[in-house]
Amino acid sequence: MQHLSSPFTLKNGTGISNRIVKSATSEVLGTTKGAPSPELINLYKRWAEGGAGLLITGNIMVDARAIGEPGNVVVEDKTHFELLKTWAQAAAGTDTTIWTQINHPGRQAIGLINRNVVAPSAIRLKLGPMSSLFRKPRALEEEEILDLIERYATTAEILKEAGFPGVQIHGAHGYLVSQFLSPRMNIRTDKWGGSLDNRARFVLEIYRKMRAKLGGNYPIGIKINSADFQRGGFTEEESVEVIKMLSEEGIDMIEISGGTYEAPAMMFSKQSTREREAYFIEYTKKARKVTNTPLMVTGGFRTAAAMEYTLAEGALDFVGLARPFILHPNFPKEMLNGTLEKIELNVPKTGIKFVDEKGLLELGWYEQQIRRIGEGKEPKLTLSPFSAVTATTRSIIQKSFRKN
Ligand SMILES: Cc1cc2nc3c(=O)[nH]c(=O)nc-3n(C[C@H](O)[C@H](O)[C@H](O)COP(=O)(O)O)c2cc1C
Repeated sequence: MQHLSSPFTLKNGTGISNRIVKSATSEVLGTTKGAPSPELINLYKRWAEGGAGLLITGNIMVDARAIGEPGNVVVEDKTHFELLKTWAQAAAGTDTTIWTQINHPGRQAIGLINRNVVAPSAIRLKLGPMSSLFRKPRALEEEEILDLIERYATTAEILKEAGFPGVQIHGAHGYLVSQFLSPRMNIRTDKWGGSLDNRARFVLEIYRKMRAKLGGNYPIGIKINSADFQRGGFTEEESVEVIKMLSEEGIDMIEISGGTYEAPAMMFSKQSTREREAYFIEYTKKARKVTNTPLMVTGGFRTAAAMEYTLAEGALDFVGLARPFILHPNFPKEMLNGTLEKIELNVPKTGIKFVDEKGLLELGWYEQQIRRIGEGKEPKLTLSPFSAVTATTRSIIQKSFRKN
């Protein structure tokens, strides 16, 4: 029977020392030029000491003209190659492995730092009063789609050469790959839209191009939505089909999440779901029936008991966590040696009902904690949620003036 502490060997022979994985966490610690900063490298050293089997980096952008958030790392050529090499070595001397996550934001790109926003179709994000932060995208031309596919593969190739031993395509959360998959965001009438086969073409072509450049033995994974959780969006049935397609192509690991900026199911769920932990576990059981590819589920895990139980059930092979790593970087070791049973995450409240219920300041608050770890400090559990607003605003303004 598999446990949290059981090692795992991927089909290409790559070993992962245990089943605890840090899911991607956009650190926003890139420099204004999109290079990894010393704080980002420190952060990964600290996380590697924490004892997880695998750490997946925050999303790395494939195109400097399309940045999800200010402070993202961008890899489109070898400009920052030496720093990437140093980052790739952050887990040296530990049993932890670091994979990179590769992304293009599509329409989920903050307007202030992105002049020319592109997406499968010209459909604007609907985020109530926050919609004005995002521009209406322009529909991609076919040759731009082909260029983007090439870019995903080139970014992965550079990161491989820099020394990272695996890569993950960000296919979830309403970013570009997820936009292509969703009939709500992709209403194209050419071969990149319409039927599921057409909507899945973008991600399949990215996978194939990466495989061709990276070779048969290099681990390639994907993070994918179980569903968009929106009317007219990507459904569970479609997601199972895409998982089948990617498995047949030979993908090495599939991480399951869900939601988009408009419906952020990846981070916020109903109270009843939170109590059961693992937001997407029921879907994963369906996915398990159609694939033997290693599966990971992320979102909501907080207790060793729930993680052990779901591993023992056999629906998944890895447990993915994000916020617990940010507040308790050592939790994997403590859980693996039995001294920690439950991770407590108490984000201070603002007292403003709407803000607290929607978790509007939570992401920025976690980003501030990430920065603290990168600076060699401990996370500060009492940090005011309002300090995140100031810091995020400052960062957006500074990075709006980035030179490239
Ligand atoms: C600060 C922060 C940054 C995140 N950045 C990313 C990202 O770059 N890519 C991604 O796939 N998910 C990202 N996520 C989502 C997490 O990977 C994860 O899916 C989500 O937080 C649910 O897991 P948890 O309940 O263990 O936190 C981020 C989450 C947080 C809190």
